[in-house]
Amino acid sequence: MPETITDPFADIDPFSAVTHPDPYPYYRELAATRPFFREQRLGLWIAAGSSEVAAVLAHPDCRVRPPAQPVPPALAGTAAGDLFGRLIRMNDGAAHAPLKALLMPMLAAVAPGVAAQKAAAMAQVLDAGEGAHVAMPAASVNRWLFALPVVTVAAVLGLPVARDHGTAVEVAQQVAAFAAAQSPLADADTVRAGAEAARWLGTWLASSLASSVAADGPLSALQHAAQAAGIDAQAVAANIIGLLVQACEATAGLAGNTLLWLGRNPSASGMPLQGVVARVAQDDPPVQNTRRFLAADTQLCGHAVKAGDTVLVLLAAASTSGLADDARAWTFGQGRHACPGDRLAQALAGATVAALCARGADPAALARAFRYRPSQNARIPHFL
Ligand code: HEM
Repeated sequence: MPETITDPFADIDPFSAVTHPDPYPYYRELAATRPFFREQRLGLWIAAGSSEVAAVLAHPDCRVRPPAQPVPPALAGTAAGDLFGRLIRMNDGAAHAPLKALLMPMLAAVAPGVAAQKAAAMAQVLDAGEGAHVAMPAASVNRWLFALPVVTVAAVLGLPVARDHGTAVEVAQQVAAFAAAQSPLADADTVRAGAEAARWLGTWLASSLASSVAADGPLSALQHAAQAAGIDAQAVAANIIGLLVQACEATAGLAGNTLLWLGRNPSASGMPLQGVVARVAQDDPPVQNTRRFLAADTQLCGHAVKAGDTVLVLLAAASTSGLADDARAWTFGQGRHACPGDRLAQALAGATVAALCARGADPAALARAFRYRPSQNARIPHFL
C-alpha cells in the first residue's frame, strides 16, 4: 500500500489560524519554509518570515488601504465611514504625519504607573454596576475586558468618564460598537450600529471638549498644538475617538490572552504581571496580522507584485522567531504605522487583569471554558 502523507496543517489557513487553538506550529512552518508566497485560494500574498514582514511594512508602495478605497465600502457614506476616513491609522496621506507626530509623544508621555492608577479608579466606577459575587462570572469578565481599557484611556486623556457608572458603560459600549463595524466579518446590523455609535461618539466628544476637558490636560495641549500646525479640528476629534477604538479590541485580546496564560500556568502565578503580559504579547499575540495594499507594480521580497494586490502580513508568524528590531513585540506592528500605544496597551492589559483577579476572576476556571471571538485578525477569547 502506498504510504499516505498527511499534511499536519491541512485544517488551517492564515485566516483560520487567528482563532485556531494552537496556530504557532503552523506559523513557524510558514516562516521557515514559505516566508513570502501567493495563496491562490485566498487570492492574497502572504508574508510570514520576519524579514519579509519587515520588508512589506517598510515598502513605500504598500499602503494601509487600497488606494481607490480609502473607506471600507460597507461604511462609506455613513457617519462611521466619515470617522474612519479621518483616522491616521488608516491613512498614508500627507495629513497622517503631522497628527501622528503629535499623538506619539502624547501617548509616550503616559507613565505606565499613572495608567495603572487610573485603571484602578475606573474599575471602581465600573464596580457600581456589578452585583455581589464571590467569583466573577465569565459574562462580567468579558464585559470588563472591553470596557476597562477603553474608559481608562478616556480618563487618562482627561475625558469625563469617571463621574458615573452610566457614562463609563455607555462610552465603552459605543466604542465597542464602532470597533466591531470595522471588521470585514461585520453584518448589516453591526455596520448600522457602528454608524450610530460614530454619531454618538462625535456628539459626546464635541460636548466634552467644549465643556469638561481640563485646560492643563493632554487633550487641551493636543488641540492647541494641532491648531498651531494647521491640522483640521475634525481630524483631531476623530483621532481622539480613534485612540479609544484602538484601545478596545486589541487590548481586550491582550488582557484575555494573559488570563488564559495564567490559567494554564498556575505555577507561574508569582511572576510579575507586566512580565507575563509582555510574554503573551510575543507568544500569543492579540493582533495576529495586518494587511497592505499595493499602490504600484513593483518587486516585493523577490516577487513581481501588481498594483491592487493585497498582502496579508502575518505578525504572529514573524513573532515565532523573536522580537522585532526595536525589541517590541511584532503584534504592535513596525515602521510607519507602528502602534504608538504599545507601552500604554501593556500597562492597560496588566491593570485590567489585576482588577479582574482582585474581583474574584479565576484564570484556571476561565481557561477551561472559552472560545475565540470570530475575527480575521484579532485573537480575543470570549469566556463561557
Ligand atoms: C494590545 C493592544 C494593542 C495592539 C496589539 C495594537 C496593535 C497595533 C498595530 C498592529 C498597529 C499597526 C497596524 C498596521 O501597521 O497595519 C497599530 C496602530 C496604532 N495603534 Fe495600536 N495596538 C494596541 C493598543 C493601542 C492603544 C491602547 C492605543 C492608544 C490609546 C493604540 C493606538 C494606535 C494608533 C494611533 C495606531 C496608528 C498608527 C499609525 O497608523 O501611524 N493602540 N496598533
